[in-house]
Amino acid sequence: MVSKIERDLIAAFRQSFERAPRLFRAPGRINLIGEHVDYNDGFVMPAALDLSIWAAIAPRQDRRLRIRSLAMDEVVAFDLDDADPQPRGDWSDYVRGVAIFLQRAGYELSGADLVLDGNLPIGAGLSASAAFEVSAGFALLTISGAEVDRVELAKICQRAENQFVGMRCGVMDQYISCCAVAGSALLLDCRSLTSRKIAIDPDARLVLCDTMARHQLTNDAYNARREDCERAVAALSTRIAGVSALRDVTYAQLMRYADSMPERVFRRARHVVGEIDRTLRAAAALDAGDLEECGGLMNLSHDSLRDDYQVSCAELDLMVEFARGVPGLYGARMMGGGFGGCTINLVEATRAEAFAQSMAERYRAATGVTPAILTCVPGPGVGPADR
Ligand code: GLA
Repeated sequence: MVSKIERDLIAAFRQSFERAPRLFRAPGRINLIGEHVDYNDGFVMPAALDLSIWAAIAPRQDRRLRIRSLAMDEVVAFDLDDADPQPRGDWSDYVRGVAIFLQRAGYELSGADLVLDGNLPIGAGLSASAAFEVSAGFALLTISGAEVDRVELAKICQRAENQFVGMRCGVMDQYISCCAVAGSALLLDCRSLTSRKIAIDPDARLVLCDTMARHQLTNDAYNARREDCERAVAALSTRIAGVSALRDVTYAQLMRYADSMPERVFRRARHVVGEIDRTLRAAAALDAGDLEECGGLMNLSHDSLRDDYQVSCAELDLMVEFARGVPGLYGARMMGGGFGGCTINLVEATRAEAFAQSMAERYRAATGVTPAILTCVPGPGVGPADR
């Protein structure tokens, strides 16, 4: 069945470009645990949301790429053969960057008209930007007759965001948008880029609570955290053999060489080393059906992100604090890059509805803001919209 979003997108495409498009769809994501560890070669546990970005596309005979975003109400046009492409500093960089890096990776892209829209809130920490990149990348490859290797596409989208947009993100968001499996989370090894399915216990629900806070300067703060991690690796790699990322460092080793780095850098590293361990333990707990244990690890993850990594904010802390007082909660933590957006909550299935209601009431009473609360049903990765 064609959804309203898809109908509107087709109508907008016809209006802008006067022909019929093909439709593709890439999901946003949640992450159960494993935050700010993907760019340290660690382990993460994301799943795809059933909220997505859709790309409507049709090929052109020339080398132009014309992109329209319904949310931004703007059409931007580029030449695919531009020898020195420069970012514009807006939403179109995500799409153009992917086209540029697909071509640099050797794909021969056809010119195209492209319209993008979705039901993923922007800035809520649900990875709308990765879904933008992946839907556009998949659509461009498909109409150009190229074979899509999903892991390869994820890597190219990450490269585009790192090098064209200037956000030094890890690969988690793009990977899950490309490779998600409906009904499961994935335990992803960000070094080998291999993953295995983690079943979500039917007795539990994953509930997202959106603080509605959208703080600025996240890219700078994010890149600064990443630099701190690199400083920690530089200090440790001269003392311990075989360290190329924080993934290679044990907690005992970090403690032993704590004095080799500034206090702030040490605390960033302590979060990462601890979080990688927590993620592996959470996977084992879910395998064993131990929801209490998994929830406890999620709680520890939040505290570490708040205190050591310092990427939380007052609204996220409040949301987590409220959740921990509501019956049926196993664990609650901030999710994604931080500084606003959503918390993720592992909740007893039978109490999930009451939990959602109680959270909305408490947060509204305390802040005057009505939060969006939604239960996540893990969906599939990118593909044609008519699957
Ligand atoms: C953002 C980035 C990801 C990841 C998370 C934090 O979503 O895009 O690569 O680093 O933050 O876990």
